[in-house]
Amino acid sequence: MGWAAVTVLTISCFTANTVLFHTDDQGEKKLRYLMEPPVYAEVSAPRGGNATLPCVLQSKPPHYRIKWVKLQPHHQGVENIVLITNGNAQKNYGALGPRASLRGAHPLDASLRITNLELEDNGSYRCELINGIEDERVEITLSVQGVVFPYQSRHGRYKFTFPQAKAACTEQDAILATFKQLYKAWTDGLDWCNAGWLSDGTVHYPILLSRPACGGDLLPGIRSYGPRHKTKDHFDTFCFTSATSGSVFFLAGPLNFAEAERACRGGAGELALVGQLYAAWQFQGLDRCDGGWLRDGSVRFPITNPRGRCGGLPEPGVRSFGFPSKTLRLYGAYCYR
Ligand SMILES: *[C@@H]1O[C@H](CO)[C@@H](O)[C@H](O)[C@H]1NC(C)=O
Ligand SMILES: *[C@@H]1O[C@H](CO)[C@@H](O)[C@H](O)[C@H]1NC(C)=O
Repeated sequence: MGWAAVTVLTISCFTANTVLFHTDDQGEKKLRYLMEPPVYAEVSAPRGGNATLPCVLQSKPPHYRIKWVKLQPHHQGVENIVLITNGNAQKNYGALGPRASLRGAHPLDASLRITNLELEDNGSYRCELINGIEDERVEITLSVQGVVFPYQSRHGRYKFTFPQAKAACTEQDAILATFKQLYKAWTDGLDWCNAGWLSDGTVHYPILLSRPACGGDLLPGIRSYGPRHKTKDHFDTFCFTSATSGSVFFLAGPLNFAEAERACRGGAGELALVGQLYAAWQFQGLDRCDGGWLRDGSVRFPITNPRGRCGGLPEPGVRSFGFPSKTLRLYGAYCYR
């Protein structure tokens, strides 16, 4: 296991049985044809952006193919091929195929270009040189820059099975977060006292300041409930979203929910999704001290500059009033266009 995994183990009660990352033993081997990438090779770009994953030959073997695969730590044994080339022709595969191409900046360049990045593209990729003698491979991590947010059902705390959690994230323009994304969010200050599903079917919650109501004296860190039963157990969820092509704007109230919907449509938009509000907060610096309706019926407001009268908390964040009665005429509207 790599350094990041070891750190997690010492600062939290994260259990070792959770699959963290696929490591492979080839790392130590000297590469003859492929150029060795730096140890923590990582490329990052926002959703909608383009990314190039480097894979460069030092020299060409007589006959070879290059195969790009996306690693799927939770589906071991299933190979997710993106593209195969023999140096001349190339063939693309799978969901990512249509957006993938070889950069081919020079004859030894087998770097993979992915356009119009999607949230699901986040993860590790492997460039394999197959030459019939001794195959070689390098791994690169693609990190889609984004933001993690906790999400709770309108019916209260701990109401989602795993499939429901997945659907809830999708409905808010997001996907289930991975453990690594939650870990990064925790290093950025996420502190949340309710346990939520992650994409691998485990349940965790991130704590920055230990307190009796949140697991007592346990050390700060990502607390783990381990893998849970996907249809019998119920929790909240952690979702991951990224930049959007549109923007979020606020319309002042007081409005009830139906009026807020109409007001957004009048401005050629619609009520924003929770993921869109988080993306605007994170990537557009949206800062507004007024609660506004969102499409799921919740009322929230985004704070980038914490100040006394805006929710009181010292950390930036998106604050929530939960799901008030839709007839309450107290709030504004956050619209997306
Ligand atoms: C990504 O690449 C496509 C095609 O090469 C190009 O049209 C587009 O402008 C690029 N997008 C960004 C954000 O650079
Ligand atoms: C996904 O994205 C996050 C944040 O952008 C990054 O920290 C993480 O390493 C990426 N990969 C996986 C498998 O989660």
